[in-house]
Amino acid sequence: MQHIRYQDNQLYCEDIPLHELVEEFDTPLYVYSKNQIVENFRALDTPLAGTNHVICYALKANSNVSLLKVLANEGAGADVVSAGELYLALKAGFSPEKIAFAGVGKREGEIEYALKEGIYSINVESTQELQLISLIAMRLHTKARISLRVNPDIDAESHPYITTGLRSNKFGISGDKALEAFRLAATLSSIEVIGVHTHIGSQITKVEPFVEAAKYVAGLVAKLREANILIHHIDFGGGFGVQYADAVRHEAVPVEENNSAIPALGDFVTAVLPILQPTGCSLWLEPGRSIVANAGILLTKVLYTKENGTKKFVVVDAGMNDLIRPSLYNAHHQIVPLKIETYEHEKVDIVGPICETGDFLARDRMLSKVKRNDGLAVMTTGAYGFVNTSNYNARLHPAEIMVNGEKVRVIRERQTLEQL
Ligand SMILES: Cc1ncc(COP(=O)(O)O)c(C=O)c1O
Repeated sequence: MQHIRYQDNQLYCEDIPLHELVEEFDTPLYVYSKNQIVENFRALDTPLAGTNHVICYALKANSNVSLLKVLANEGAGADVVSAGELYLALKAGFSPEKIAFAGVGKREGEIEYALKEGIYSINVESTQELQLISLIAMRLHTKARISLRVNPDIDAESHPYITTGLRSNKFGISGDKALEAFRLAATLSSIEVIGVHTHIGSQITKVEPFVEAAKYVAGLVAKLREANILIHHIDFGGGFGVQYADAVRHEAVPVEENNSAIPALGDFVTAVLPILQPTGCSLWLEPGRSIVANAGILLTKVLYTKENGTKKFVVVDAGMNDLIRPSLYNAHHQIVPLKIETYEHEKVDIVGPICETGDFLARDRMLSKVKRNDGLAVMTTGAYGFVNTSNYNARLHPAEIMVNGEKVRVIRERQTLEQL
């Protein structure tokens, strides 16, 4: 079910008309649908019933503690990439037994913290890191459970900045060196090698790259077993793509182009399960975007409209400090009015208040005609939205709201000038 949708010419999140939230809490404002988050989680979790598995939510997508608690209550695990994310995961109530720590540049203190908390797996990205973990574990008189992140050199056909599984990317240990690295790990007395980790990228919109990666991982597990390295855990990463164009529909809202069909969430899982299940390994997935992206929106208000002869600009009160994805990756987010007041459209650039030409939310976009103070929703911003906010231009971090049916809860207050 789509929990952010038009009803009676107003955009709603669950049972709440969003313009009411603008009136009460001001803009820019992130709003999340609790029930959409739960449904997305279950769409991935349900096809895995009967398989020894954990859906480890990747905190990097959105690490608001109240949102994390929703997922911890659903039985999710946590994929963390820093001491900060580990701290937030523990604070939200994720069991250490369901936490994996990935990341290409872990500091010594972070490794020590993870070992002391007894998390399930540190996902190791280089042999130097492996040796450091071994030394720290020895010093702490413990054994470190690790998985080795292998880079399978598979093209995920995503944006170059979020493709991670190519040999030219900084992530993991290259495929040709994997066996050697596993052999080294098996010789270290303070290391317990439990599994293999892979993650080929984010916003992957086809099942084929996942199928290829699954075949690679299953093959590697078999090779390791031949070499008497008996691993029992596969962490298959995240990266399932979501639909950004045409996220919401209304006959007054322009239909967007390039709207390629994206597999349903469960289809990603059912495509790889027959390949990974026969390995007999426990299966962990690390989705971030697919659990929270379409559960969140960024609300903003029109400050001014103006024309420069060739272009028309709609200046809004959310900038690249509130949502960097369009500036950083030229990412597409549908932008729609909170109230349908006209069926007229025009081509505009929707820009923020920041002193950079790169500060835009959309360029050459057909938008419903708007005027000063109209409310707009930037759709599908629950993932990699708030977590990437900054104080650039000394602008304040926006507030965050969680909606659950008719209930509205502030889950992060707007930053104040005094907190700058
Ligand atoms: C190691 C790892 N796991 C999980 C994720 C989450 O990916 P996504 O949000 O696309 O599901 C990422 C994102 O880049 C990642 O690098």
